[in-house]
Amino acid sequence: MKIFLVAGARPNFMKIAPIVRAINEKNRINEINQIDCKVVHTGQHYDYEMSQSFFDELEMGRPDIFLGVGSGSHAVQTARIMTAFEKVCLKEQPDIVVVVGDVNSTMSCAIVAAKLCIPVAHVEAGLRSFDRTMPEEINRVVTDALADFLFTTEKSGNENLIKEGIRPEKIFFVGNVMIDTLLKFKTKANDNARMKLDNKDYALLTLHRPSNVDKEDVFKNILNTLQEISRDIPILFPAHPRTQKQIKSFGFDRDFNFTEITPGNAVSLKRTINLSSPLSYLEFLNLMSKAKFVFTDSGGIQEETTILGIPCLTLRENTERPVTIEEGTNILVGNNRTKILEESYKILDGNGKKGKIPHLWDGKASERIVNIFLGRPYEPFQPKNEVNVGTI
Ligand code: UD1
Repeated sequence: MKIFLVAGARPNFMKIAPIVRAINEKNRINEINQIDCKVVHTGQHYDYEMSQSFFDELEMGRPDIFLGVGSGSHAVQTARIMTAFEKVCLKEQPDIVVVVGDVNSTMSCAIVAAKLCIPVAHVEAGLRSFDRTMPEEINRVVTDALADFLFTTEKSGNENLIKEGIRPEKIFFVGNVMIDTLLKFKTKANDNARMKLDNKDYALLTLHRPSNVDKEDVFKNILNTLQEISRDIPILFPAHPRTQKQIKSFGFDRDFNFTEITPGNAVSLKRTINLSSPLSYLEFLNLMSKAKFVFTDSGGIQEETTILGIPCLTLRENTERPVTIEEGTNILVGNNRTKILEESYKILDGNGKKGKIPHLWDGKASERIVNIFLGRPYEPFQPKNEVNVGTI
C-alpha cells in the first residue's frame, strides 16, 4: 500500500509526524504488509522557522516530495498546489492520500486526489466554526465532502459530519494526532529549551488571523488592550510573518512600546509586549507549558493549552473546537477590550479556568489511524448516555 501524507503549512507538520512514526513502527513489526509512506510538502510555508525547523525537531528528515508552491492569493495558491500535486499523483499512483487540518494545501490536495479517484483520508475532520468568512472553514467543508476516511478529534466532529449527510461508516473518532506529538515531545521540549523563562511569569501571545491583523483599527485596539495587561505581566509575542508585515505597514512598530527580542539563552522579558520572530515547535511548546496563560487566535493552540492545563484566551468570536471550551481551559474573548481585560485579570488573580483532558487525547490517535488503513477492527467511541455517531 502506498500512502501519501500531505503537509503544507506550519500547523500541519506536527500532525503528520506521528502518523509517519506509526507507519514506520507497523512496518518494523510487520514484514508482510509494508506501507510505502511518502511525505509530500506543498511548500505553502517556506521560511525555515515555519517549515524545515519542524521536520528537524520532529525527527522527520526531509520531505520525500517538495512542490515548492509558496505564497499567493487563495486562488493562485490553490491552483498552484493542485497543478503540482496532480502531476505527482499521476506519476506515483498512491493508494491513499492523507490530508490534515484545514489549510489551503489540505483542500487542494483533497480535490486533486478525489478527481483522480484516489481515496482521501482527512485527519481532523468535522470541525466547524460555522463562519464561512474564515478560509479554513471553506477548506474543511470541501475536504470533508470529498473524503473517504474522516478521522475526528472530538464528538462535535462526528455530529457535524452526520448532519451534513456523511455516511457514518466513513467516520472514525480516533483522538488528536497533534496531541500525539505534544505528548511525545514535551520532555524533549523542556530539556532542550534555550529560553529559560521563569515559570508563570509571563503570558504568551500569537495572532495571525486576517480578522485580527488585517484591519488597522481592530489590530490597534487589540494591541492597546494587551499593552495595558503587559504592565502587570510581560507578554511574549512570537509573530507570524504576515503579522510582522502588518505591524510594519500600519507603523505599529513606532506607535507601540514593543521590546524586540532575539530568541536565545539570555532573554529576559520586560513589562511590555516582547516581540520576536516565530519560534520553533519545541521552543514554543516549552514556553506554552510554562506560561501563566496564553492569548491566541490559532486553532491548534486552543487544543495544546487544554492538554497542558494552561488557561487560554482565544481572540475570536467562535471556535471549531468546542471541546476546548466545554472540557478544556479555553475561553472566547473575541477582540472585545472589556472581555479581554476581565478574563486576563481573573487569571492574574488566581482564578484561571481549569479543565480536563478530552477523551482519546491520549497519544495513540496515529496508531488508530494506521490500524484502520490496515483494515484492523475499529472500536467506535461510545460517549456516556449519548447515541453513537460514527461506527463501522
Ligand atoms: C495559513 C493557514 C492558517 C494557519 C496558518 C498558520 C490557510 C488558508 N491558512 O495561514 O489556517 O493557521 O497558516 O501559520 O491555509 N509567509 C512567509 N513565510 C512563510 C509563509 C508565509 O513570509 O513561510 C507570509 C507570506 O507573505 C504569505 C503570508 O505569510 O503571503 C500568508 O501565508 P499563507 O500560507 O497564505 O497563510 P497563513 O496566514 O500563513
